[in-house]
This record gives sequence, C-alpha cells and structure tokens, in this order.
Amino acid sequence: MNEAHLQLCSSTEWADAVQRWIIPWVLDGVELGDDVLEIGPGPGLTTDVLREQVPRLTAVEVNPALAAALSARMEGNNVAVLCADATALPLPSDRFSSAICLTMLHHVPTAEAQDEVFSELFRVLGPGGRLAGQDSLDGEELRQLHVGDTYVPVDPLTLRDRLEASGFSSISVDTNDYAVRFQATKS
Ligand SMILES: C[S@@+](CC[C@H](N)C(=O)[O-])C[C@H]1O[C@@H](n2cnc3c(N)ncnc32)[C@H](O)[C@@H]1O
Repeated sequence: MNEAHLQLCSSTEWADAVQRWIIPWVLDGVELGDDVLEIGPGPGLTTDVLREQVPRLTAVEVNPALAAALSARMEGNNVAVLCADATALPLPSDRFSSAICLTMLHHVPTAEAQDEVFSELFRVLGPGGRLAGQDSLDGEELRQLHVGDTYVPVDPLTLRDRLEASGFSSISVDTNDYAVRFQATKS
C-alpha cells in the first residue's frame, strides 16, 4: 500500500466504517464457526472487530512490517498473525470453519493470482466452511488512491464464475454503491 492508502486503512474513519457498515454487510447471515481465517488484515482494524466475534482468528498478511506490527498488537489475545502470501497459504487443508477477505483482492497483482487466492481459501476451509468477503468497486477516486501501487479491481460480473471455478458452491454476489460482497461455501 502507498502511504495515503495506509493512512486511510489506519484511520478512525475507516475503523468506524469497518465496524458499522462493512463487516455487518459482509457477514450478514454467515455462521463463522470457531476457527476463522482472515487474509490481508493490513493494520488490523478489521481484525479488531472480527476477533470479538470468534473464539480463534488467524490473520495472514503478506507485508512483513504490517504483519509484525499486527502480531505485536495482538499478542496475548485470540489472534495468531502469520506473514504469508494468500496465494500459497502455509496452512493445512480442510482446517477453517470460515474465511474472510476484506478490501484486499485489488492489491493482489493479477486476476490469475486472485484466482489462486480463491483456490487456497477453498483448500484450507473445512467441509461446509463459508467464505465471505468484499472489495471496493472500481472508480476514479480509488484509482487515484492507488497511484504507484498495485491496483487490480475485481469485476463483480465475473466473480460468481471465478468462485465456482475454484470449487465453491452456494455463491452469492451483490453490490452497493461502493463495493461488491460475496459469500460462498465449500460443500
Ligand atoms: C487495503 S488493505 C486492507 C486491510 C484490511 N483488510 C481492511 O479492510 O482494513 C489490503 C491488505 O492486503 C494485503 N495483501 C495484499 N496481497 C496479499 C496476499 N497475497 N496475501 C496476504 N495479504 C495480502 C496488503 O499487504 C494489505 O495490507
């Protein structure tokens, strides 16, 4: 993330949006279960909210500095932080009761790598495990925020087919004015 984007993802405004709007919208109707995976937590404002809702949370962040800072901040609570790439998760198959992916896919550098993320999430979910996520919709403001940064927005119209190709079923995809959300099951 560039500096402006990092500041936004660390701000009280973002914390408020995550808590009041984003997580309730994304997790609407989702049974998280007791062993939950979050990918791309960044500074961890999402992690702060999610960890209150589950007994055990594993957060996988690819940026070493962000992962180290989050790991230090989460020490002694119910979150394990791993520095790793969600396209190749160093985690066992069939483990997690649910997986969550918030505002991170557009930072994965190609559509093919995003599909590898979906396949890895499918692999590490247990049978019946639920995936829930969201990503920002493409737009001029978002493009400006990512100048000099990775920016590969997800096309909501292709998302269902891409999740299905990764093995998921019971897929839902919908949008609001700002973002696309998706839910899917490993059956
Ligand atoms: C825009 S931030 C979002 C942070 C948080 N999810 C939120 O909504 O506030 C995206 C994060 O995803 C991380 N990320 C990007 N690609 C990743 C990958 N392949 N594996 C794990 N994390 C990744 C980035 O390093 C960054 O911290």
